Amino acid sequence: MNLKVTVVGAGNVGATVAQRLAEKELADVVLIDIIEGIPQGKSLDLAEAAPIEKHDSLLVGANTYEASLNSDLVIITAGIPRKPGMSRDDLLATNRGIMRDVTRQTAKYSPNAILIIVSNPLDAMCHVAMEESGFTKNRVMGMAGVLDSARLRAFIAAELKVSVENVQALVLGGHGDTMVPLPRFSTVAGVPVTELMTPERIDALVNRTRNGGAEIVSLLKTGSAYYAPASGAVEMAEAILKDKKKILPCAAYLEGEYGISGLFVGVPVKLGKNGVEQIIQLKLLPEEAKALNKSAAAVRELVDAMRKMN
Ligand code: NAI
Ligand code: 2OP
Repeated sequence: MNLKVTVVGAGNVGATVAQRLAEKELADVVLIDIIEGIPQGKSLDLAEAAPIEKHDSLLVGANTYEASLNSDLVIITAGIPRKPGMSRDDLLATNRGIMRDVTRQTAKYSPNAILIIVSNPLDAMCHVAMEESGFTKNRVMGMAGVLDSARLRAFIAAELKVSVENVQALVLGGHGDTMVPLPRFSTVAGVPVTELMTPERIDALVNRTRNGGAEIVSLLKTGSAYYAPASGAVEMAEAILKDKKKILPCAAYLEGEYGISGLFVGVPVKLGKNGVEQIIQLKLLPEEAKALNKSAAAVRELVDAMRKMN
């Protein structure tokens, strides 16, 4: 029997995630959305592409959760995206309500699933998902660090005119303006970028990474990025479904690691069949640790604001 992944939210990110999961033949895919016809239509369209794309993943769409029964993994992309002028945090109240409803249904039909959260504001939405599902911390995580790191990798590769495959980069912290790109841990064929670029150029690429989401929003005007976000979520899904023990930056629930407690923050983790199997603790320089703490404080502010909402 094939593995089963449910993608909640059949919008730009969700549909692209479904496409990539199916085309990589990682699992059968259930696509769920509240808009009647959209998940059914998109999954049928993707299924009709299967003979040409040469995969045998099954795709179904639905407006309720019965079809998602006993999913191995659920990727939650439901919510509203940013429009020009909006920050990710502006989405808090609306997406919190959506996340609560979606997580309750998900946990009811797939009590043993692992959850990858994508909806923004990402780190705060991970809290909602963990609280509503009651799942253990290893089974709830957020996708942002893979995306932010991929953006930095793409910018470094373009700047140095090398293959993106030669470039590794690491961005930690919350998925917001305070995210923490770490040039010291960003390398080209193993050589730290701090040895390959001037501090001014590194700063420019770091700032472009911090504004990477807003740059796309200002170009698209009607929504936010989805190709790279979908790739990020699928890389995490693949690591879990194939039990790869792959180290990726993800929003994970910290209980003392990096001196942070009771909060989802982006850190390097080992992903395998049990979800977040280990949190990797890097030795940070004082200024890096300070930036991570500042980012964690911004996440805590959002979580506190959310708790006062009811
Ligand atoms: P979209 O508007 O294209 O799709 C969202 C979908 O969610 C819509 O089809 C909508 O009908 C559906 N939806 C709303 N309420 C629902 C509910 N209760 N149950 C099921 N489906 C529901 O938006 P897009 O571009 O796909 O973005 C989705 C979310 O992901 C946004 O919150 C966005 O900010 C976030 N995002 C996060 C990223 C990250 O790095 N963590 C990157 C890109 C997007
Ligand atoms: C991004 O970074 C909107 O969070 C989304 O593109």
